[in-house]
Amino acid sequence: MQMHLTGFMIYCPAPHTTMSWVYPREKLRHQWYEIGYWEEIARTLEEGLFDMFFFADGWGGGNDIGIRYAVQWPAADPTVLVPRLSAVTKDLGFAVTMSTTFYPPYMLARKLATMDHVTEGRIGWNIVTSINRGEARRFGLDALPPHDERYDRADEYLDLCLRLFHSWEDDAMVMDHESGIFADIDKIDRFRYEGQWYRSTGPLSVVPSPQRVPYLLQAGSSDRGRDFAARWAETVFASELSTPAMAAFCDDLAGRTEANGRDPDQLRVLWSASPIVAPTEAEARERQSEIAERIPLEASVAMMSGHLNLDLAAFDLDTKLSVLEGQVDGTQGMFDMWHRNGEDPTIREAARRYGAGGLGRSALLGTPAQVADEMITLLSEGGGHGFQLTPPYYAPDYYRDLVDLLIPELQRRGVYRTSYAGGTLRDRMGGGSPPAWTRPNVAADR
Ligand SMILES: Cc1cc2nc3c(=O)[nH]c(=O)nc-3n(C[C@H](O)[C@H](O)[C@H](O)COP(=O)(O)O)c2cc1C
Repeated sequence: MQMHLTGFMIYCPAPHTTMSWVYPREKLRHQWYEIGYWEEIARTLEEGLFDMFFFADGWGGGNDIGIRYAVQWPAADPTVLVPRLSAVTKDLGFAVTMSTTFYPPYMLARKLATMDHVTEGRIGWNIVTSINRGEARRFGLDALPPHDERYDRADEYLDLCLRLFHSWEDDAMVMDHESGIFADIDKIDRFRYEGQWYRSTGPLSVVPSPQRVPYLLQAGSSDRGRDFAARWAETVFASELSTPAMAAFCDDLAGRTEANGRDPDQLRVLWSASPIVAPTEAEARERQSEIAERIPLEASVAMMSGHLNLDLAAFDLDTKLSVLEGQVDGTQGMFDMWHRNGEDPTIREAARRYGAGGLGRSALLGTPAQVADEMITLLSEGGGHGFQLTPPYYAPDYYRDLVDLLIPELQRRGVYRTSYAGGTLRDRMGGGSPPAWTRPNVAADR
């Protein structure tokens, strides 16, 4: 087994663990909004031979509680940050989150194709459909389209984007300096796409990039979300609370992938985690309590409300989650996570765990040897290919601790690379081909 690792951040003060921006002043080398902070993280992840630096993102947030405590907010644009970070790294991959609900497909395809050139084949796209009303309001809408319809639209969106990414044949750009011919018009697909939701014409105005199609990632785990993942994703991020639930998720996804005519062995599954590693178990435990104690419950409730697209503060916090069944239009897969593991916590209990890092599972915690063993056990019993690691404390130091303590331990056990092999992000994640579009050419538009 060779484990894949990604660093999970948002271009914001605290990516998942609420209050993780709080840190002793004398230890802060950069503030989160300074470019040095991000460059230091990128360099550290590359030193640790991580597969990629992953940026989650959203447009919403910013209710009163969220503003007061910086609950995944304020969040700047990762598509602007990543090209800068790619210039200070050579091998590290990057993934940016971009929403099918708000970017016009042509704009997204052009931006990502350009980023694949700029990063020299190291860009991935985390495909999201957006999750809450706050995001809709930023764009002048009252609400998002309903949950399943967002995925229906996204299916068509992906179809169109893939068509755009493939609109130049490999040798279409002739650039003949003698004849002055730049491109062979017969090798460029000037298609017209007319779907139920989207219309566009080819070709893309960017020549094929090293990967041609950005590496495709996705994180929805509802029934409809899994179907979408099985059709389009090359890596899926997921969160489960036990190894039987992890194994069931992997089996289910493999079945759906096969049903879509794709090879399930090429699909990667990475689990959300927020391990706390320290030289001794006592130090790791102490750090965990410090982190948990400083998180205001109302901030965790606000974060969960945003993810579920349901104002949990309006309920008695001792309400069981099962009572909310049928009211969640945000991340249904996350809401069902407890249920899938046979648990029915109250809002208060769920929010405490959710706000304190990872996406619900108790943190991996202890010495490098303990954490490495547990990570290996999770993958061997639960399946999947690695972890998406998100910091519960000051990110530059968190990743430094992982690189200094955990990575050598994983390498000693032979489950983690000792150098980069080169190639594109897709090559590193296990190769294979990106999915193909499925709609027939509607009409040539010449
Ligand atoms: C680990 C993880 C990371 C996610 N990151 C983002 C994100 O950055 N932006 C976003 O809008 N949604 C994000 N989501 C939400 C999903 O992309 C998806 O839209 C949501 O889970 C709804 O899908 P579902 O109901 O099928 O689970 C994330 C979900 C998970 C589990």
